[in-house]
Amino acid sequence: MFRRILTVVGARPQFVKAAVVSRAINAHNAESECQALHEEIIHTGQHYDYLMSGSFFEEMEIPPPAVNLGVGSGPHGEMTGAMLAALEVEICRRGPDLVLVYGDTNSTLAGALAAAKLRVPVAHVEAGLRSFNRAMPEEINRVLTDRISALLFCPSEGSKEQLAKEGIREGVRVVGDVMHDATLFYGRRAIPQNVSGPFAAATIHRAENTDSVPRLRGIMEALGRAPLPVVLPLHPRTRAAMIRAGISAPSNVRTTEPLSYFGMLGLLKECTFVVTDSGGLQKEAYYLGKRCVTVRDETEWTELVECGANRVVGAECETIEAAFAWAARPLTCARPLYGLGDAGVRIVNELIGR
Ligand code: UD1
Repeated sequence: MFRRILTVVGARPQFVKAAVVSRAINAHNAESECQALHEEIIHTGQHYDYLMSGSFFEEMEIPPPAVNLGVGSGPHGEMTGAMLAALEVEICRRGPDLVLVYGDTNSTLAGALAAAKLRVPVAHVEAGLRSFNRAMPEEINRVLTDRISALLFCPSEGSKEQLAKEGIREGVRVVGDVMHDATLFYGRRAIPQNVSGPFAAATIHRAENTDSVPRLRGIMEALGRAPLPVVLPLHPRTRAAMIRAGISAPSNVRTTEPLSYFGMLGLLKECTFVVTDSGGLQKEAYYLGKRCVTVRDETEWTELVECGANRVVGAECETIEAAFAWAARPLTCARPLYGLGDAGVRIVNELIGR
């Protein structure tokens, strides 16, 4: 049993995932005092704007972090290195039995590496996912984190099989996707966005798209050719990249500030289809019954493509545009791909050794 848990988060999607497990920990503690878990959250500060971080803690009532390391933005090495140094101090000071990390951001890798070097077991939620594109910083973060984790919580049998191919068999558990739990639980608190008439919801933030002018231009041009209006909440890096490249949103595309989590759930519920390069949104679209056009060259959530919920189309205008007619049709695939929405409870059961 791992009684003292240190959770490391830092970037927007991790707050949603950690909220699910924190809730499950609290529910467990309310039931079983003698086996209570003690969780402390450390926020690396990778995301720091209210709309990228604070709003998530407020809406989902995530326990406030014990400390915010305030690392902020920067080049990958600098950011990850600063987190690593600060996390080492915190792990030594707090003496956890286990460090819990989520997903594939620089905060994930820093948390895992700091813990592993101190010989503290690491648990990785969203283990075994692969895009097989090592040019993506997230792919490096995933591969390395899985390599040094003691407990690997996989969302699907496919991710477990991938780990086996890499020789990782110990500590692997298929628990489903915590974001499915989140969509089910928080979906009823979605904030309506009251967009008039049918529309597509879009988000773009991946470095491979924002840092390449031709790709960013191709995606924006395609959104301009969408058969319906598009609502595009803008990640700060995308806004900056558009200004830098002199790209403005086409007339049918309404850009907004980043939405809170409940706001985004509202937008997803109301939209006709989704266009995104986000991993999380690909799944949320599916959980909420919408087709998704993924503007990347590959996805780690391959089951979505296999079941016909998602098309991976790259970043060329014509190819993206060609997927819109497909995307506007209703989604029929109802097969549960990533568990039944009880991943949080399953993770807690593993932590207490049940
Ligand atoms: C990070 C993750 C990515 C995840 C995404 C979720 C890595 C390598 N990438 O990407 O996997 O999908 O979070 O959003 O960890 N910025 C702000 N305010 C903020 C945060 C960022 O203005 O609160 C701007 C800064 O200019 C910064 C840029 O966004 O340089 C990129 O932020 P960063 O944390 O480096 O990566 P993300 O693109 O958010």
